[in-house]
Amino acid sequence: MVYLDNAATTGQKPPTVRRAVADALINFSANPGRSGHAFAQRAGEMVYKTREKTAKFFGAETGEVIFTQNCTHSINMAIKGSLMRGDHVIISSMEHNAVIRPIHTLKNNEIINYDIAQVIHGDDDATVRSFERLINEKTRMIICVHGSNVTGEILPIKRIGEICKKRNITFVVDAAQTAGIIPIDCKESGIDFLCIAPHKGLYSPMGLGVLIARKPVLRTITEGGTGSYSNLLVQPEDLPDRLESGTINLPGIAGLSAGIDFIKNTGIERIYKHETELCNMLADLLKKDSNFTLYGTIEKTGFFAPVVSFNLEGFTSMEVADFLSKDGVAVRAGLHCSPLAHQSIGTLESGTVRVSPSFFNTKSDIYALSHALNSIKKRKNIRKNY
Ligand code: ALA
Repeated sequence: MVYLDNAATTGQKPPTVRRAVADALINFSANPGRSGHAFAQRAGEMVYKTREKTAKFFGAETGEVIFTQNCTHSINMAIKGSLMRGDHVIISSMEHNAVIRPIHTLKNNEIINYDIAQVIHGDDDATVRSFERLINEKTRMIICVHGSNVTGEILPIKRIGEICKKRNITFVVDAAQTAGIIPIDCKESGIDFLCIAPHKGLYSPMGLGVLIARKPVLRTITEGGTGSYSNLLVQPEDLPDRLESGTINLPGIAGLSAGIDFIKNTGIERIYKHETELCNMLADLLKKDSNFTLYGTIEKTGFFAPVVSFNLEGFTSMEVADFLSKDGVAVRAGLHCSPLAHQSIGTLESGTVRVSPSFFNTKSDIYALSHALNSIKKRKNIRKNY
């Protein structure tokens, strides 16, 4: 199988990650921060070191790193833990349902109000103005995706972060598609809550999320055992315990640690360059053929998260993905849980076929995809003849 669905999860993990996960399961599969025995202590040390490493990697402090279940969980914690009745929120027009649904639920429950800032594709100045225009005296939070999971468009988070800082607005960034591929520094970009999907660009197994919380979380959305202050009926105040109830994903965290090491040893710039070169190669192939419609700002900006979205005339995006799967090529089709983004690029009805390479893909994978797409095109001619 040629796996080109790495925006959903990185299909191939570095061997060091696989070994680290196995090592955690074989050599210290104990509950960190609970029992005091040597195994549990070893597990606790690994978790602490990974917290430290993750913090450094994203320009944050060790105590600000919270291990969650997934990126959606991190986003929910930031939103539901911080917002108060009457608050106003601004989200971008490229958000994933992980942002839209919790925000919309709070609005439906008459707790908050929100507006959507239109991302002006390929024009950062205009996008920043879209956000600024919507700010009012009740605006408490701005949430924006760093890199769109549909088009790869990168939003100007540093500039939006500056506005938030000036106006004392909490800034939440969904870095699901960029963490591990494009450098992010929370302090430099004024990010208060950074939400991360480690199983994507950081190569950990699934079932682990990271929330970097640089502002207090007023409310918890899950309470339970933390291994600390066990005599108290209330949730501890200290981070990370306050937000880490229940057993954490030890093998996942071991994988994250090895994943960050892999990125540091390989070089994040090298990873980005390789993945975007493959995207550009595919875009160039598709552009030569008028049967394909390409979406996004790849040509306009040259700076994008490594995804390519397109449609093939005469086929639905789902049909193309099904045919590709039968030909041994894995991609994702449809709305990618991001209806707003599709509305914004005019593909709400059709969705798109999305190709997302990782560092482990090669040019020959893109040729295999192109070859398979050409075979699908031929089916169109067969269809026409009947
Ligand atoms: N949000 C993930 C994707 O874009 C799962 O595929």
